[in-house]
Amino acid sequence: MTEPPALLSVDGLVAGYRPGLPIVEDISIRLDASEIVTIIGPNGAGKSTVIKAIAGLVRIEAGRISVDGQDMTGTRPDRLGELGVAYVPQTANVFTTLTIGENLALAARRCRSDAAGRVLAMTTLFPVLAEKSGVRASGLSGGQRQLLAIAMALVAEPAVMLMDEPTAGLAPKAAEDVMSLVRRIAADGVGILLVEQNARLALRLSDRAYILAEGRNQHEGPAAALLDDPLVGEIYLGGRRKGAA
Ligand SMILES: Nc1ncnc2c1ncn2[C@@H]1O[C@H](COP(=O)(O)OP(=O)(O)O)[C@@H](O)[C@H]1O
Ligand SMILES: [Mg+2]
Repeated sequence: MTEPPALLSVDGLVAGYRPGLPIVEDISIRLDASEIVTIIGPNGAGKSTVIKAIAGLVRIEAGRISVDGQDMTGTRPDRLGELGVAYVPQTANVFTTLTIGENLALAARRCRSDAAGRVLAMTTLFPVLAEKSGVRASGLSGGQRQLLAIAMALVAEPAVMLMDEPTAGLAPKAAEDVMSLVRRIAADGVGILLVEQNARLALRLSDRAYILAEGRNQHEGPAAALLDDPLVGEIYLGGRRKGAA
């Protein structure tokens, strides 16, 4: 029996910023529809580099990236949408000098048909974006700004979302809100590859996870099993877990 192709598959990825100096040495990741897969690991482990390599922002020296079995290795960032892939960067993910409405309209220009309808769908899904449509993105709270960035990615109805630390810098309540939104998006069928500093929060909401260190896969498995693994807890999650908290 052969397995159906993964929604997103990364095989033996070697990538970096300078020729011959790979940051990511041999990474393999699989993501299916409706799944949340999290990449965790220490600062500088290469998590963002993996996401950026998939998004066409980093040079790939070896390996293969495919969507639904179709090779997309080295696809330019402006062609990602055609393959059903959306990328939400960690920083600078909205245009701060533009209003919410303008940000959404700009993102919707990538939609081949019915851009106005897609913007309307986003403001219906997220009423706060409709209420604040005329407000500049610079005037939003951190949580609202992240919501806008996610809406700008969702506007194109992606099959795969790549999200780099969507809860970075957010207050705990706002971080929880963003993560429950991530769950809702996955429940609608989107496969989400997530990088998170807040590893415990992310593992609680993820299906599977990969732990990266020094540019390589160190551990992988169901998120719940990694959360319960005392060795993983001690090394990667900041100490042994006490009780069930
Ligand atoms: N634009 C860049 N140019 C050169 N080196 C970079 C660049 N961005 C990141 N790096 C290096 O790549 C390594 C991995 O970085 P990154 O993927 O951002 O790690 P993480 O997201 O896991 O914290 C780090 O050593 C970092 O210094
Ligand atoms: Mg990073």
